[in-house]
Amino acid sequence: MANECPLLQLKNISKVFPGNNKVLEDISLTVNKGEVVSVIGPSGSGKSTLLRCATMLTDITGGEIIYGGKCAVKADKGKITYASKTEMKEICKTFGLVFQNFNLFPHYSVLKNVSEPLIVNCKVPKAEAEKKAREILARLGLENREYAYPCELSGGQQQRVSIARALALEPDVLFFDEPTSALDPELTVEVLKVIKQLAAEKMTMIIVTHEMEFAKEVSDRIVFIEHGVIVEDGTPDELFATNNERIREFIGKLGGKK
Ligand SMILES: Nc1ncnc2c1ncn2[C@@H]1O[C@H](COP(=O)(O)OP(=O)(O)OP(=O)(O)O)[C@@H](O)[C@H]1O
Ligand SMILES: [Mg+2]
Repeated sequence: MANECPLLQLKNISKVFPGNNKVLEDISLTVNKGEVVSVIGPSGSGKSTLLRCATMLTDITGGEIIYGGKCAVKADKGKITYASKTEMKEICKTFGLVFQNFNLFPHYSVLKNVSEPLIVNCKVPKAEAEKKAREILARLGLENREYAYPCELSGGQQQRVSIARALALEPDVLFFDEPTSALDPELTVEVLKVIKQLAAEKMTMIIVTHEMEFAKEVSDRIVFIEHGVIVEDGTPDELFATNNERIREFIGKLGGKK
């Protein structure tokens, strides 16, 4: 049955940028409904590229990406095959992406930033879209900021708006690329609290983060990537107790207690 399929399967993904710059190699990852998977690893190891490939913002060079049992894209020896336009539209509705730098429309109010994708992409009537946007903003503690513009908000509030915008589209899975790395420690806590709340509500999430204690607390699994290869994929307890010296050193440097 379709609902028993993993929400996302990455099979043997590779990515080579022009100039023969191999950034991802043979990455396989399965994410089931309700799972939270954190992706950690040094700068330049390929974490953002992996998220960009998984969300089809970047073409893969090899492997296959499957959402809910449906192949979205497959690549083999330079030949890349996408699902049909109609299928792809459906697949793209199943995931949302939250970036490090919020990516809000500066000339839209908070309410419009959250409701507009519903109106434009999902053809939801304006009044209904705004009602839904208001409910989500309230859930994320932003009920008083609906008419503010992004520049009038703190970074933490802006990031919560961008999470609200992604949630409004009711994705099955949410990707986060270092959602707190542009924030100071206090605002980081505020955004991590929202993500923890989503985890408690069983939202499926794939989170690239450098926040080791958060990753330990929130994740079902943590994946460590280095030089474009998955070095370890395990539970937080397994990762934090690993004998792999490189991972121990990495976790230690970022302040994660081993
Ligand atoms: N569009 C591109 N063209 C060529 N090379 C790229 C491109 N995007 C990324 N790379 C290279 O791919 C490698 C991995 O980059 P990526 O941004 O995925 O790393 P990362 O793990 O997200 O790092 P960080 O922790 O600093 O965000 C880097 O060597 C980078 O220079
Ligand atoms: Mg990155």
